[in-house]
Amino acid sequence: MSAGRIDLCRIIEFPIVADYRGNLTFIEGSKHVPFEIRRVYYLYDVPTGATRGGHAHISLEQVIIALSGSFEVIIDDGYTRKNVFLNRPHYGLYIPPGIWRELINFSSNSVTLVLASTLYDEKDYVRDYKTFKKMVRKGFWDESDKKVTEKISKMRAFK
Ligand code: TYD
Repeated sequence: MSAGRIDLCRIIEFPIVADYRGNLTFIEGSKHVPFEIRRVYYLYDVPTGATRGGHAHISLEQVIIALSGSFEVIIDDGYTRKNVFLNRPHYGLYIPPGIWRELINFSSNSVTLVLASTLYDEKDYVRDYKTFKKMVRKGFWDESDKKVTEKISKMRAFK
């Protein structure tokens, strides 16, 4: 597989219902994110200087949202690295399978919400960067990338 897989990672803008009582944002599975949401988890009380992530997934898809505060997500497709800054709760970063990610520079009191396509399964993790690169070079995610490309091309939230 060639470079360019990184472009499968996308910023999604979620709807905002603005109101003088405060804003409301909602997220529906398979509509605003390209998968059914099977798990939600959140990171909070993250100490200054901590790094989270540091792995890729075999088949899990995720959307990462800065519900409160800010942080950066380093995404890496095995060829290209990008830093994505998240600081608003109506934006999410979609990460397909086979992308290495690290979360850094958490602001104090940040809350990171993660929407995930599968239940927790340690076997789905690739926690060694060299192994990840080898898998990319062998085309491990080629089929998955094709499916992701096809489905996100049909989604309004991605246009
Ligand atoms: P991990 O995914 O490595 O955290 P991060 O990528 O944010 O640094 O998970 C840390 C620990 O938490 C690990 O022992 C597995 C456990 N865990 C669960 O039990 N369920 C979950 O849904 C998640 C995300 C993690």
